Amino acid sequence: MEAKQAAAARAVAEIKNGMTIALGTGSTAYWAIQEIGDRVAQGLDIKAVASSLRSENLARERKIPIADLSGIDRFDIDIDGADEVDQDGNLIKGGGGALLREKILAANSRKFLVIVDGSKLVDQLGKVPLPVEIVPFGSALTLKNLERMEAHPSVRQLNGKDYISENGNLIADCRFQTIADPAALNRRLHEIPGIVETGLFLHTMVHSVFVGYADGAVRIIGTSTEK
Ligand code: 5RP
Repeated sequence: MEAKQAAAARAVAEIKNGMTIALGTGSTAYWAIQEIGDRVAQGLDIKAVASSLRSENLARERKIPIADLSGIDRFDIDIDGADEVDQDGNLIKGGGGALLREKILAANSRKFLVIVDGSKLVDQLGKVPLPVEIVPFGSALTLKNLERMEAHPSVRQLNGKDYISENGNLIADCRFQTIADPAALNRRLHEIPGIVETGLFLHTMVHSVFVGYADGAVRIIGTSTEK
């Protein structure tokens, strides 16, 4: 069992009959969806909403019942990966470009369970670029505002073209090097018109981080109480 799979399996063990589940995106969330699919095949009765078409398609393949988001008040559990996790449980997410939908689902979940392998743990956020979703209108101005705050943004590319998120937006990957105060940076970024959302997920929205290791062991780091 690989480290990501171990973390995913342990988090999926928290799911119980009757729950409404949010599904993340990425190679670790992939394992969570596979595990949930196995449990659904064994009779687990849940419904789910995915944070991306990729994850929704995988969930449908695995016969996980997909719910209409408009009918959901709150998710019982959201399981998703992360690109970096700092010592306080703050995250950088959005390497897979699904940060906006991921944040909407996480913010509306009683328990946001983060699944990572040990390589994602850092002392301070910022070694990986921070993805920031920006609207195409006026994007040159928004990027200039980001440059002024020394974000060193670059517009994410895919196959030689601008990457377009599932919400029709661009992603500016910002290189801050170190992020000493994630909450303050998140606030400053949200003050720039044109920025829809940032890949900073603050520890206050995280319930637990499940860290998987290659030998199958999983360390659970609790960060906050149930919402
Ligand atoms: C997608 C994400 C992913 O959760 C993040 O990029 C981690 O991906 P992986 O599990 O493949 O390492 O935020 O937008």
